[in-house]
Amino acid sequence: MVKKKVTVHDLRKLAESGKKAVYLTAYDYCFARLAEESGVDMLLVGDSLAMVVLGYPDTLSVTMDEMISHAKAVRRGSPNCFVVGDMPFGSYQISDQYAVENAIRFIKAGCDAVKLEGGERMADRVRAITSAGILVQGHIGLTPHSMAQQGGYRVQVKTSESLDRLEADIVALRNSGAFSVLVEAVPPSVGNRLREIAKIPVYGIGAGPEIDGQLVIVHDILGLYDRFQPKFVEVYENIGLLIQQALENYAKDVRDGQFPPKHCWYSEEAKKALVIDGTQPEYGN
Ligand code: KIV
Repeated sequence: MVKKKVTVHDLRKLAESGKKAVYLTAYDYCFARLAEESGVDMLLVGDSLAMVVLGYPDTLSVTMDEMISHAKAVRRGSPNCFVVGDMPFGSYQISDQYAVENAIRFIKAGCDAVKLEGGERMADRVRAITSAGILVQGHIGLTPHSMAQQGGYRVQVKTSESLDRLEADIVALRNSGAFSVLVEAVPPSVGNRLREIAKIPVYGIGAGPEIDGQLVIVHDILGLYDRFQPKFVEVYENIGLLIQQALENYAKDVRDGQFPPKHCWYSEEAKKALVIDGTQPEYGN
């Protein structure tokens, strides 16, 4: 079946009809292909790749060049999902011009939109990027680029003032042209409230069930990252454990002389065939 490309209109229609958008991180060709085959709507090439793929302790050190390389791989794996490129720390804070230049790099790499952290204080930046014809997703609540200011990975919104601030953030993002907002780590009641006032799709990661769609980090739901597990995450399959078991079996077979298996292409029969009729066995299937 030929799949249809997911567009911003499809995402708006989904939200208007009350259907949930399925949003997942992806960092490479292989996972992007599997996500597309599974019917995922949106893929975030998240700067969380700094942690779950590159092994850094936080997201701050990943560079634009690294993000672009992963964004291209994700697009190669998924021609049809709506792909969002996550602007890394340092790529959008300095000036409008620098932010627009970096957003353009994501679009040239195949992304449909970019995401950046911050609400009201980033309104001018969002306006500058949308004025260049680029779709922007805002990101508020827990914003890992300001982790030091926010005191670590914590649920946001403790007081009515902080709720007021989030409401102001979401209005500012909408007025600056953001096509959607991602809200991270807020209580479900806050997620609901933000959705009520947003008038643009609101997606959540740890923001309760009532919003327009759910994002998770793919490594978290597959048991592939054990340094940190958010409370709201469900592990659908512990692929990490399965991979480890498979690798242990492989290591055992190598040490026992059971790998490569007898039917491999350079087995004795294959060698004989090569000598007799000159055919070269295929390397793969
Ligand atoms: O980088 C990422 O995956 C993100 C989500 C955690 C929101 O920004």
